[in-house]
Amino acid sequence: SDPLRLGIAGLGTVGVGVVKIVRQKAALLKARTGREITISAISARTRDKDRGVPLTGYGWEDDPVALATRDDVDVFVELMGGSDGPAKAATEAALAAGKDVVTANKAMLALHGQALAAAAEDAGTVLRFEAAVAGGIPVIKALTEGLAGNEITRVMGVMNGTCNYILTRMQSAGLPYAEVFEEANQLGYLEADPELDVGGIDAGHKLALLASIAYGTQVAFAEVELEGIGQITIEDIRQAADMGYRIKLLGVAQMTGRGLEQRMSPCLVPDSSPLGQLEGGTNMVVIEGDQVGQIVLRGAGAGEGPTASAVLSDIIDIARGTRLSTFGQPATALKAAKPARATAP
Ligand code: NDP
Ligand code: HSE
Repeated sequence: SDPLRLGIAGLGTVGVGVVKIVRQKAALLKARTGREITISAISARTRDKDRGVPLTGYGWEDDPVALATRDDVDVFVELMGGSDGPAKAATEAALAAGKDVVTANKAMLALHGQALAAAAEDAGTVLRFEAAVAGGIPVIKALTEGLAGNEITRVMGVMNGTCNYILTRMQSAGLPYAEVFEEANQLGYLEADPELDVGGIDAGHKLALLASIAYGTQVAFAEVELEGIGQITIEDIRQAADMGYRIKLLGVAQMTGRGLEQRMSPCLVPDSSPLGQLEGGTNMVVIEGDQVGQIVLRGAGAGEGPTASAVLSDIIDIARGTRLSTFGQPATALKAAKPARATAP
């Protein structure tokens, strides 16, 4: 059959990871999909930059919208980031041009994901975003596929690798904030605006997306009760450790009698618990379903390889012909949920 032709916008940590897999695992990808997966064209802000991977032979576009709408692109892979601006414009253009879209952009999805998914459904294309939540952990597929026979009763976990890295390294290595922040940067964990990470906003984006998928409700990021790790001091971390606890940026989404509760905040967890033992950029997502009970997913939540792995899983699905709706059901069928505040405002 015909090759599946990609147009990749964004050649940073994740984009380069995707290019490497497509180049280095061509035979494996073909064996798994029955199709060749090729790159037609790429885009980034700077053309002449050594990105550690050969990029000759691919078409180049300065404008991501032009890339997204090229005739030789079947799937637009959006890896630029930013909730609005070029990422949203190019995604909309791609969908309108009948292209499937794969993105890792949780900021865009938390604000516009439902409208974009509806646009994809209108156009008969698919919008997929496995990489947007918990990096390499296939949590969206777990909810929309493996656990589709369950009513979900609770989703919770640690969903930001940067915050977990900073909190654990400050404790275990006794290093100051500035030093561990720079380590997280070197590992490719940080958002372009790191305030999204340490302010808990990135984790809140992910929680809102998971809640929507888990409960079939409209994405309601504005209703997430948010608190980041910016106020946590090394003294707080030490005091928690003295009492046998660790501080984790923990998210919970659950349907209560009062409505949908979505909360992302620093919490004390017992040192010896699986959550307490979560080190570095690792994420953990706990899902509770009425039939299956509790499922625990743990793995790398950020970084080049793990995130590219998740992007590839969506590309592979498309190559195999999957047309599954991103949210597990049509975006237009998602119902508004009454927000339940866990704490008094
Ligand atoms: P980077 O900052 O490393 O890379 C962003 C890339 O986008 C760069 O190549 C940049 O070009 C390009 N870019 C930015 N603006 C434009 C524009 N206007 N036109 C064309 N190209 C542009 O980001 P990441 O790879 O870390 O993240 C990409 C996406 O993946 C984001 O949405 C992020 O939230 C998400 N994500 C990231 C994870 C991670 O671990 N890093 C994990 C999960 C999701 P140039 O290089 O020339 O500056
Ligand atoms: N900045 C994000 C994190 C990247 O640290 O978790 C993965 O989504």
